[in-house]
Amino acid sequence: MRKQIAAANWKMNLTVSQGAALLDDILKAGLSLSDHQQAIFAVPFPYLSMAQSKLAHSGRFAVAAQNCSNKKSGAFTGEVSAEMLHSMEIGYCVIGHSERREYFAESNQVLAEKLDLCLENQITPIFCCGEPLQIREAGIQNSYVETQLRESLFHLSQDQLEKIVIAYEPIWAIGTGRTASTQQAQEMHAHLRAVLAGHYGDLVAGRISILYGGSVKASNAAELFQSPDVDGGLVGGASLNAPEFIRIIASLK
Ligand code: 13P
Repeated sequence: MRKQIAAANWKMNLTVSQGAALLDDILKAGLSLSDHQQAIFAVPFPYLSMAQSKLAHSGRFAVAAQNCSNKKSGAFTGEVSAEMLHSMEIGYCVIGHSERREYFAESNQVLAEKLDLCLENQITPIFCCGEPLQIREAGIQNSYVETQLRESLFHLSQDQLEKIVIAYEPIWAIGTGRTASTQQAQEMHAHLRAVLAGHYGDLVAGRISILYGGSVKASNAAELFQSPDVDGGLVGGASLNAPEFIRIIASLK
């Protein structure tokens, strides 16, 4: 079975002590995850070590960065490179979140560079894609998201592609409380998998975990995750609340 993943994206929230308390509360729940299940915490850069030290011995829990630079190293004040993350043994990095695309003008090309640097540094990118409301209302979401994949991913070899995780996050569902319906999520995930299959073949496409993000909560996670092409979630707001996120992890297939 493909990896089923519950990924928390804390975004720019919580102090370090609040973050530590949240991880402690989640660990206390004593969740036991199967071989094909994983929980990932994408925390702010300054909290990576704290999260690493708490989760290091907890089996299927891993730490992610929320971003990395598209430059290898050098005079880029305030940036954090994939090599730095690798040197801290960070195994995952969120790439191309819609908030980075929108507020920091990250293009598909820049994201392709970030993906390459992650892969060179043995970091699994969690590559985000998804359409804004006006694209969904115009009914052209499939081709919009396909372009995001084509321009950022399709230069990767088959082996490289198999190392990435994709997160579909419709922008109109992020932080709005308006979740995509189970049918909308499944339809888009099946489309993304078909696009990958068209370029890399069915076998490879069938191995890629595709997470859904956008107002995932404890109350809707199980239904969303039951869809055949939805392999878990990338969770913002509800990941800041221990009981909510524990139930979301427990909803994985
Ligand atoms: P919400 O779960 O708060 O809608 O955020 C989704 C998201 O952007 C996760 O990356």
